[in-house]
Amino acid sequence: MANRIPDELIDQIREANDIVDVISEHVQLKRAGGNFKGRCPFHQEKTPSFNVNPARQIYHCFGCGVGGNVITFLMEYEKIGFIDALRELAHKAGITLPDRGSDRTGAEDDPAVVANQMALAFYRSCLEGEGGGDARKYVGERALGQDVVSTFAIGYAPAGWDNLLGAARRKGIATSALVSAGLVVERDGGGFYDRFRDRLIFPLLSSGNRPVGFGGRSFGDQEPKYLNSPETRLYRKGYYLYGLSQARQAIRLSREAILVEGYMDLLSLYQAGFHNVVASAGTALTNEQGRIIAKYADKVFIAYDGDKAGTLAATRAAETLIQLGLKVRVAAFPDGADPDSYVREAGPDALREALASSQDFIDFYVSLNPTDDPDDREGAARSLIETVVGIEDSLKAELMLEKIAAALSLRPAAVARVYERRRAERQLRGRAAHKARAGEERQANGRTKGDGRQAAHSGRQGEGAGVESTTGAHYRAQKGLLGLLLAGGEGAECVRSHLEVDDFTNSDIRILVERVLAGSASEGPVDIAALIDPEDDSELAVLLTELAVSESSQKDGGRLCDDYIGVIRKAQIEGRIQDVDKEIRAAELTGDERRATEAMVRRQELAQQLSALSSDR
Ligand code: GTP
Ligand code: MN
Repeated sequence: MANRIPDELIDQIREANDIVDVISEHVQLKRAGGNFKGRCPFHQEKTPSFNVNPARQIYHCFGCGVGGNVITFLMEYEKIGFIDALRELAHKAGITLPDRGSDRTGAEDDPAVVANQMALAFYRSCLEGEGGGDARKYVGERALGQDVVSTFAIGYAPAGWDNLLGAARRKGIATSALVSAGLVVERDGGGFYDRFRDRLIFPLLSSGNRPVGFGGRSFGDQEPKYLNSPETRLYRKGYYLYGLSQARQAIRLSREAILVEGYMDLLSLYQAGFHNVVASAGTALTNEQGRIIAKYADKVFIAYDGDKAGTLAATRAAETLIQLGLKVRVAAFPDGADPDSYVREAGPDALREALASSQDFIDFYVSLNPTDDPDDREGAARSLIETVVGIEDSLKAELMLEKIAAALSLRPAAVARVYERRRAERQLRGRAAHKARAGEERQANGRTKGDGRQAAHSGRQGEGAGVESTTGAHYRAQKGLLGLLLAGGEGAECVRSHLEVDDFTNSDIRILVERVLAGSASEGPVDIAALIDPEDDSELAVLLTELAVSESSQKDGGRLCDDYIGVIRKAQIEGRIQDVDKEIRAAELTGDERRATEAMVRRQELAQQLSALSSDR
């Protein structure tokens, strides 16, 4: 993490502020065993499910699934950034932070982050300032109120080639920092100029509320209509969802998200009271963006433009989301309307109605495509089945196949047969593609991903796009082992001596295990509050705090550890058996008998290992 403040000082400030004291200023807490309990300030509730653990210095809510340390509490509660939260806590504890003036040296800082922060402040002041008249007029024409302007930190990049360059110079920020943030562009003949000129600016904020990039809209017919920051180390287009940092909490609470295409759609909806809205802004929805939504939502309402391009993009987005296991509804708008214009002209109730009368994907698809003659029905069936082939959850797949058959008046058995065949083919190809890709990614380490559209496309053809399962024995075992590792004692020792990071397949758990193992082993429990990084995807912190608050005792750690390891090893062997099965099928397909026989011998061995493992326990 790139802080202008040294980690030791952050730790010192965190440790100087007792979490119970700080939270008690805002929430009434009562002691309950080892924890304090209260009514959660992040969602409406009657019975308290908000826990604060003084020993661990963390909070966690079982009701809405938020959690973190004293710093992230202030960030979420007061809707402020990391630095401001830290400043406030330092002040409470009487610790002096290096003041903002010391930003200029940028010594221990990421220059691109500093440049983005400076640019954000500059653009905002320009919108408010003397030269911002036309921009303010445009904001008025687009009917954006002061609330959204400030919630989304909207700004104005003035006309002229070097306004930002000049402001940076006055603040002692190097041009190279602006370049690395993508804020200025190098001229062919040498020298630099501002990327964003005479545009309304939409900052792209990270989950820690820092700007990672910017989008800018021209006022008139100036082309391009929208201009975005280039991909940088901080901003990766295909992984970024506009509005998520403002919408996350509302999505988490309702488990529903509204997905729109554009910045303006998002801002208008937010302003109309729909706070659970995110935008893919500038790319076709990628798998990675879909995965992020799936962390918070179970159901997504796709609200794209009513024109041909919009319905086509909605179809692609729906396919991606369905394959990730999400429930999908597609809202329809009149041709020529988009969610922004619709909510402004017809009002919030009309939009609510459009969402309520949205269609499920199959009905939407059938309504768009002709299905009168047999050829059309066949084409529609094949395309819909292709989407189902990508769904990991077999129950969900089954139900969709049933619907497809009914919607197209086909026999369910015929639909199922096509599906089974496509599924088998896909699994064969998927494994090979997965391996090839893993190799490529290792080589391309550090290289930025290409256009989001391509990423989405290759993802669709690639291996199972499913979200990692967070149910099932394998996941529970990994979570249990992380819990033991955090609790310390015998269980932690067992984990440390028998398992490696690679034994953990769930990516969130793996990151946390890596983080714990990177610290030095100590007898007692791990300092969980210190493991929470405010720049993390918040699911990581929640996983940690949930484990800490619901902590089973350290007793029995050794036995538990053995049991969990058994589950992990079993899953590993099962995975290998699946691989070998595929190899056998592939070998048979190509008529390579020697390879098939070899694989079968290996399968025997693995099956024996598996049964030995089961009889052990
Ligand atoms: P307004 O015309 O301002 O209402 O925007 P819109 O959201 O209706 O625009 P549109 O539906 O054309 O585009 C949707 C989204 O695609 C925008 O919010 C942008 O993120 C992106 N986009 C549109 N035009 C451009 C462009 O010229 N360049 C880039 N990079 N992105 C664009
Ligand atoms: Mn529009």
